[in-house]
Amino acid sequence: MKPVILDVDPGHDDAVALMMACGAPDLDILAVTTVAGNVPLEKTTRNALRILSLIGRTDVPVAAGAASPLERPLYTAESIHGESGLDGPEIPDPIFEPDERGAVDLIAGILRESSEPVTLIPVGPLTNIAMLLREHPELKNRIARISLMGGSVGLGNTTPAAEFNVYVDPEAAREVFDSGLPITMCGLNVTHQAGAGPAERDRLRSAGRFGGVVAELLEFFASTYQRVFGFDAPPLHDPVAVAAVLRPDLLTTRPMRVDVECDSELTCGETVCDFYGVTGRQPNTRVGVELDRDGFFELLYESLARL
Ligand code: RIB
Ligand code: CA
Repeated sequence: MKPVILDVDPGHDDAVALMMACGAPDLDILAVTTVAGNVPLEKTTRNALRILSLIGRTDVPVAAGAASPLERPLYTAESIHGESGLDGPEIPDPIFEPDERGAVDLIAGILRESSEPVTLIPVGPLTNIAMLLREHPELKNRIARISLMGGSVGLGNTTPAAEFNVYVDPEAAREVFDSGLPITMCGLNVTHQAGAGPAERDRLRSAGRFGGVVAELLEFFASTYQRVFGFDAPPLHDPVAVAAVLRPDLLTTRPMRVDVECDSELTCGETVCDFYGVTGRQPNTRVGVELDRDGFFELLYESLARL
């Protein structure tokens, strides 16, 4: 069992990533932490608690983290996820409370006590992870890898240059990419290969006890992606970062130097990926460049069917 901590901003795709991780046999989910992103922190925290309550995983401690980015005002995405952050299906209220320690303290405590280094899977703005590294640099050697959903080799989805998670908190992302830790970046260039079209949504509907909820979440997600982006297959961004931990063979990666633009008004939040090594600078990230789409969806179906 691989020990992991997920840091989330549910969000429809975060919810699917949480359920996928909980269904996967090879992950030991030590904690879930929440960050403001798709919707404000109170809602992302409530949504994480709702999803874990729904699937019967109230054993997983949930701790709230940053209510805003390191230096900027919060920018949210209700246009994609709705006012609640999980619009669409009726999902019951949470049946347990968040841990009073808060995200950074909870993660730090787990890292100290774990018998082996822990993999972090952040799939929202990287504020909590940056705060953890600032406050507990001595725990960096307790982190096995960071498998993050964020950035893009190429097009952005929030500005022409910037992907949402990095756009919301570019300073946090810069500190994480500059941390020297092993990082796998699952950017839009690979998560857009995981679009859940009508066929995939139909297949998901029969994937285990909660397939119906997943399908309804994705029907809503598809409706907003259609309206905002003209897509009929909403990308399952965050589950790709989980899949990259469960089955690294599904994601082809390339070592690259990744820098985050934090100053330009035009391109702030861009992950500047040195694909050809033209800067001569040491790579700091394994950047996803290709996803085994069929393998990814089979893994997703299998994981959800186990819930
Ligand atoms: O750009 C996509 C990312 O932003 C996903 O993590 C989605 O949940 C939102 O947080
Ligand atoms: Ca997310």
